[in-house]
Amino acid sequence: MNKKYRRVIIAGNWKMNMLPSQAKGFVEELKKLLPQAMRGCTAVLCVPATHISAMGSQRFRRISVGAQNVSEYDMGAHTGEISAEMLKDADVQYCIIGHSERRQFNGETDEQIRLKLRRLLDAGITPILCVGESLQQRELGLTMEHISYQVKAALASLSEEQVREVVIAYEPIWAIGTGVTASAGQAQEVCFNIRELLRKDYGALISRKVSILYGGSMNAKNCRELLSQPDIDGGLIGGASLKVSDFASIIAVGCEE
Ligand code: PGA
Repeated sequence: MNKKYRRVIIAGNWKMNMLPSQAKGFVEELKKLLPQAMRGCTAVLCVPATHISAMGSQRFRRISVGAQNVSEYDMGAHTGEISAEMLKDADVQYCIIGHSERRQFNGETDEQIRLKLRRLLDAGITPILCVGESLQQRELGLTMEHISYQVKAALASLSEEQVREVVIAYEPIWAIGTGVTASAGQAQEVCFNIRELLRKDYGALISRKVSILYGGSMNAKNCRELLSQPDIDGGLIGGASLKVSDFASIIAVGCEE
């Protein structure tokens, strides 16, 4: 397997942090710190919905705009929801789905995640599908069983062409926001196994093309070791994406890989 077949994606997940008025300054600063050459490497900021139009309309060419959620419905009487088409119209290029915080605190089910993924693909937005095990599942040796279930449930009934458009983020729940990152070996092992799963279900060509990211306490210090693993094609970064210099450093490392 070789990363030259895939894009390296460094995606920030701001979660419910930062105000729209602060975001503009952040992005201006980030643009100054971005590496000169970003061939084969994409920087994304997944921002709260209130920030999207400001980010999109300013057309920050070197930073793609991502959302953090989308409705599983296409339109209509769904108060408080935002459709994939609305995101597309606001220039959103990526959208996180199935984040463990939404699965845990918003009761999001695998079936909802499957539907959301389809909506995004239909709208031409790249889904960043999050999967990952709890500490208990890891300790019981159920990591891959759980992750294969999540991946298969989300991708069920997609064509090979559609699967190729999906980005998968492996985020062990015990590593999110805890400061405890998975070791590079642990992260590589799971990302490799996810690729194997894709190879068995969709063939070598597709599995070679899908970018698989690692997320969970990735920061400017530990990113190099994680990003140098053969099956880790980027990162989904929470806390460290709120600090402009840290996020820029991670992007710079990602662009070297
Ligand atoms: P973290 O969050 O980098 O703060 O651990 C990652 C995520 O939740 O996507």
